[in-house]
Amino acid sequence: MRDAARPARSGAGRRVARGGAARDELRRRVDGSAHVEARRPAADAGGAPAAHHRPLPRARDRDRGVLRPRVPAGRLELDRRHDRFRDRPRVDRRAVQAADAVSGDAALEADGVACLRNGLAEVRRVHADIHSSEPDGTGAALPARRRVHALLHAAVVAVELLADPGAADSFRGGAVGRAGRAASRARGAGRNVEDGHVLTAICRYGPRVLAGTKAIVQRCRDRGELIQGPDIRRFERALAARIGVADAVSASYGRVAFYYLLRALRLPEGGEVILPALTFWVVPEMVRVAGLKPVFADVDPRTFNLDPVAFERAITPRTVAVVPTHLYGLSCDMGAIMAIADRPRVKVIEDCAHSLGARYHGRHVGTFGDAAFFSFQTLKPLNTYGGGAAIARDPAILARVRAQAEAEPWPNEERVNNRLKLGAAQRIFSRPAVFTMTAYPALLIAMLWKARPDVYLWEKIRPLSPMPDSYRERYPNVQAAIGLAGLERLDAWTAQTRAHARIMDDALGSLPGVRAPFVPEGCEHVYYQYCLYTPDRDRFVRRALRHGVDVETLHVDVCTELTSLFGEQPRKPHAEQASQAVQLPVYASLGERRARAIARRIRRLLRDAPPLTEAAVNSRC
Ligand SMILES: Cc1ncc(COP(=O)(O)O)c(C=O)c1O
Repeated sequence: MRDAARPARSGAGRRVARGGAARDELRRRVDGSAHVEARRPAADAGGAPAAHHRPLPRARDRDRGVLRPRVPAGRLELDRRHDRFRDRPRVDRRAVQAADAVSGDAALEADGVACLRNGLAEVRRVHADIHSSEPDGTGAALPARRRVHALLHAAVVAVELLADPGAADSFRGGAVGRAGRAASRARGAGRNVEDGHVLTAICRYGPRVLAGTKAIVQRCRDRGELIQGPDIRRFERALAARIGVADAVSASYGRVAFYYLLRALRLPEGGEVILPALTFWVVPEMVRVAGLKPVFADVDPRTFNLDPVAFERAITPRTVAVVPTHLYGLSCDMGAIMAIADRPRVKVIEDCAHSLGARYHGRHVGTFGDAAFFSFQTLKPLNTYGGGAAIARDPAILARVRAQAEAEPWPNEERVNNRLKLGAAQRIFSRPAVFTMTAYPALLIAMLWKARPDVYLWEKIRPLSPMPDSYRERYPNVQAAIGLAGLERLDAWTAQTRAHARIMDDALGSLPGVRAPFVPEGCEHVYYQYCLYTPDRDRFVRRALRHGVDVETLHVDVCTELTSLFGEQPRKPHAEQASQAVQLPVYASLGERRARAIARRIRRLLRDAPPLTEAAVNSRC
């Protein structure tokens, strides 16, 4: 999933002014935020009109329009080509993992140091747990106001000066942009690069939060139905009805539902399962855990989904199944995939983790293959704070899934309570104002002590065998009750997300330097992510962040690059290409006004982008 957009980087090898001069400089920057209007320049280095920019600091703090913290000479250097820090002689892992964590460049660079290459895969953030949460129906405001930003900055700088003037030197000139950017740092991307403390953006993808969640939890508690209760079956039946199948079975995770399906299908051990090279790493990993062999096929870079031609080519006599993943909320070409799978009788298990509500020629995804699974993790179309479900065409297979699910122990109450508390904390702390006043300064201050709070936001890429304890348990009643109520809101949420996607399409679709999401005829996209291609992605990401817009660079993984898990794999150029897309916020709680503001800003940033040719996109791979 990435990943996080990068902020300004260091000026390479620049000397740092120390002592009084450094302090003056810091004060100047803090003061500067209070007098932005008076000192607005004619235009920034990117050529955007002055009316939308705060003044940039003096030229020596700038580098092609990007603010760069200066770092002690000799210790760190800036790799200009990739715009990242290097700590000679090794590549700094924390820098590498940031914006283009698994880009070809990053992998290549780390290649020289074998352990780093593995580390690169391991530390890669996949799904962060701090997300923006807006109560139903309210629009997300700009995350931090100018004055709050100035205040926070002053506080952080003061702490810094008291703690260590040297550290202050290195912090100075860090990523400070337009008001509103403070809290819009890309998630999981806090970086403490030796002497340079750099925070990048924390993306604020809005989880779908039900207004009555607290009341639902309380009701379950009062009835003694937090763990076991009738809502589990009710939820399974309601979900099945929503999708248009006879029944569904809930599980602790979507990945676990997938695992149950792999076993229930009684696939021969060591059989090959074909997956798109662009997917969430846990899915092929569960194939491995189930005693099967993941085989990757390339994707169609226009849709980000499994390319039927590549799928057909990947079939061998050992192929037992294929997993079409309806990535980002768009259905795969199920007509073609089913026709190919039918000949050698390859089982089809649809990954619908991103796509509850999506349709292909009028039929809900998940109803084409032999089986399918869904995820109810915090960011997914239906958020029950974790959980998943399986469906299957053959009732006997679903019965085998149910037998496995029901053989698991119930989770203990403490674990479920903790999960609910975490959900409540996420809801509170990711509200723009609260985030700005609490989590953001905490993150900054932690970095002054060289702590790495950001690593706790990532799901570590690691072998899943044996499965973690939390996988081997049943789906609790309280989460099912939340899901049951959430299903009623699903269409409204999807309509909001689609409306925001339309706003982006209208604003950006006609620009020559943009390729907006392609929706093949007959597909109803639910826009779990809104992905577009643009030339010079990294520069665009930096500029977007400076303008207070959260963008993300990779939401899933190019699995062929995760050699620590899956060994050396043939490259999949289209998956690598697809991983270069950016994701713009269109989440349901964004609100129309904010979506329009974002679309306008992005349009301004991209209107002069050079035309996006096939060659330009392909040159990335
Ligand atoms: C494409 C895809 N498939 C499967 C899953 C697994 O879902 P879960 O986290 O519920 O196990 C995810 C989770 O993010 C995903 O993105």
